[in-house]
Amino acid sequence: MPPLPSIIAIDGPVASGKSSIGRRLAERLGYLFFDTGLMYRAVTYLALRDHVPLDDDEAVALYALRTHVDIRPPTVDDGRDCTVLAEGDEDITWELRSKEVEDNVSRVAAIPEVRRILTSRMRQVGLRGRIVMVGRDVGSVIVPEADFKIFLTASVEARARRRFEETQARGENRSYEEILANLRERDRIDSSRQTAPLRRAPDAYLLDTTVLDIAGVVATIERLIADYTK
Ligand code: DC
Repeated sequence: MPPLPSIIAIDGPVASGKSSIGRRLAERLGYLFFDTGLMYRAVTYLALRDHVPLDDDEAVALYALRTHVDIRPPTVDDGRDCTVLAEGDEDITWELRSKEVEDNVSRVAAIPEVRRILTSRMRQVGLRGRIVMVGRDVGSVIVPEADFKIFLTASVEARARRRFEETQARGENRSYEEILANLRERDRIDSSRQTAPLRRAPDAYLLDTTVLDIAGVVATIERLIADYTK
């Protein structure tokens, strides 16, 4: 029987359930969970806060190069999947979910030099193994040698509904229509950018989660892993 896959890559569009699913799977396997989107969100949040002009690709890339972001297992039990620290000690985890970050992160993630810098940092973490990594290009670009790859899909309406319910649970006042429009726009940017557009790696399993809940998706992935190790 081959061993469990060491690097598990889960990719998919915004709000396809990657983070909840990846975190749950990592817990069950005793693996590290790494949500790569948090790195783009952290750079976006910090750059906005420090007034870096986001339309200046070079300035944003230089900023990304100089900025130190740590993604750790949750340090507080408040529903977070990871804890994100800036410059070693500033907890910016929840700031990364703000509307301002959501509205600007696709633009930052589309800058080729920013992608190059962050991809190389993500890759270093991934190659340590025993890890579940989630994102847009984990299996296709960050660690194409990952031994187990999943690509999640779900209709844009189902994804908007999930995001809406999350924001309601956090007491945020955002309408379903606004979230749906934001997801459509982010899908468009993520799929059409020149560097590493959202695309399924040819060797990734395609899993449609429109009618599955998180437990159902995790169970399906575990069955696929069991087949893999047969
Ligand atoms: O998964 P998310 O919503 O937290 O991702 C935030 C942004 O980062 C989103 O615009 C897509 C981008 N991203 C990416 O381009 N590549 C990744 N591996 C992860 C996220």
